[in-house]
Amino acid sequence: MKVCVVGSGGREHALAHVLSRTTEVVVTPGNAGIPGSVSTPPEELDAELFVIGPEVPLVDGLADRLRAAGKAVFGPGADGARLEGSKRWMKEVLADAGVPTARWGAFDDAEAASAFLASLPGPFVVKTDGLAAGKGVLVTDSRAEAEADVREKLAGDAFGDAGRRVVIEEGLAGPELSVLAVCDGSRVVPLPAARDHKRVGDGDTGPNTGGMGAYCPVPEAGPALLDAVMERAIEPTLAELRRRGVDYRGVLYAGLMLTAEGPKVLEYNARFGDPEAQVVLPLLEGDVAGLLASAAAGRLEGEPKLAPGACVTVVLCSEGYPGSPRVGDNIEGLEEVAGLVGVTVFHAGTRAGPGGRLVTGGGRVLNVTAMGADLAQARSRAYAAAAKISWPGLHYRTDIAANAADTKAADTKAADTKAADTKAADTKAADTNGGNNK
Ligand code: AMP
Ligand code: GLY
Repeated sequence: MKVCVVGSGGREHALAHVLSRTTEVVVTPGNAGIPGSVSTPPEELDAELFVIGPEVPLVDGLADRLRAAGKAVFGPGADGARLEGSKRWMKEVLADAGVPTARWGAFDDAEAASAFLASLPGPFVVKTDGLAAGKGVLVTDSRAEAEADVREKLAGDAFGDAGRRVVIEEGLAGPELSVLAVCDGSRVVPLPAARDHKRVGDGDTGPNTGGMGAYCPVPEAGPALLDAVMERAIEPTLAELRRRGVDYRGVLYAGLMLTAEGPKVLEYNARFGDPEAQVVLPLLEGDVAGLLASAAAGRLEGEPKLAPGACVTVVLCSEGYPGSPRVGDNIEGLEEVAGLVGVTVFHAGTRAGPGGRLVTGGGRVLNVTAMGADLAQARSRAYAAAAKISWPGLHYRTDIAANAADTKAADTKAADTKAADTKAADTKAADTNGGNNK
């Protein structure tokens, strides 16, 4: 089998790396650090399976176009990808499916939005309805700041048409969790839960980024919690999609908050998370290409086999990220890291510089990823490797997976049982609807 991975970041490198255990892989467009990268567009490539990484081509209907040309595709059509492409539509699906989520309303009028904000206790959350590359969400304790953000978004200044409608939510509190599930249109199997670190600075400080690191498994997210997420969120969502005529084949990624009332869905993504894929995929054993091909064909069988141990990825960034990054710096130390036990470096933003040397080509440059017997070992291997890599202005978080690696096994089990026993809040469609969104 030949598989074509569509995309150009660390997630696509991780996909290519794991798929190439059992199959030939090309990546389009890929980047200078991903083996098998080609510049030919996906529509012109020949492959038995297409795996689409990023949200933009999914929302734009690339999966539909490839399927219309008779190709097998892992990734939803534009109808299913709308879960990620319109937060209002996603919230309507959740409401109809009875899935616990934050109270919300959707608005294209600033006055109605202000009235809804005034009815919430705060913190306040303002989101662009459309895609905003992970940057369209404001969480604030200040109602005035939320109102100013609504006006700016609705005016189209910062986010263009994606912001001309906003979704306003009550702010929820708790640790976050990413659950990625593989769907074949009717059957769905979860992958082990992961956790992303979104803020740029240690201790979750500074602005939000596309993700500064991730780890898997998450100690407090054991089988009981994963079952609860499947039963209360993912399965009802897929049933509601089917009811609406959507044949969803690909990853359904639930971004969850583990609140005192139980897990609630913050967002759905229509794809593998980045950088979650970099820690989840290496922990899958066996023929991952076969797993994705069977989902694409609508006949998912069995469960993904999990490798023992844990995986941690640390994202190395350019100076200036998450603002405008400086690019073009020589990357040193990759040869030294190549021989380290358990370590793989996924390339997110590298390009070929003068003389063919690899240079920085974006904000998030490398994902230094390590497997270990447990999180503590995976984490220390990843950081030992990261320390050998350098370029001017390189920065990364030093606390990825730090708390989880310290968690004792007994605490873990207690937390999992408590999280799953806690009854989800009664957030039926009528209650979750802000009243102004029909
Ligand atoms: P989203 O793109 O919807 O996942 O939002 C990005 C980030 O904003 C999430 O990972 C959370 O950290 C935060 N966030 C989103 N919705 C809420 C909410 N209702 N309450 C608190 N934080 C939120
Ligand atoms: N890790 C967040 C995302 O992929 O959207």
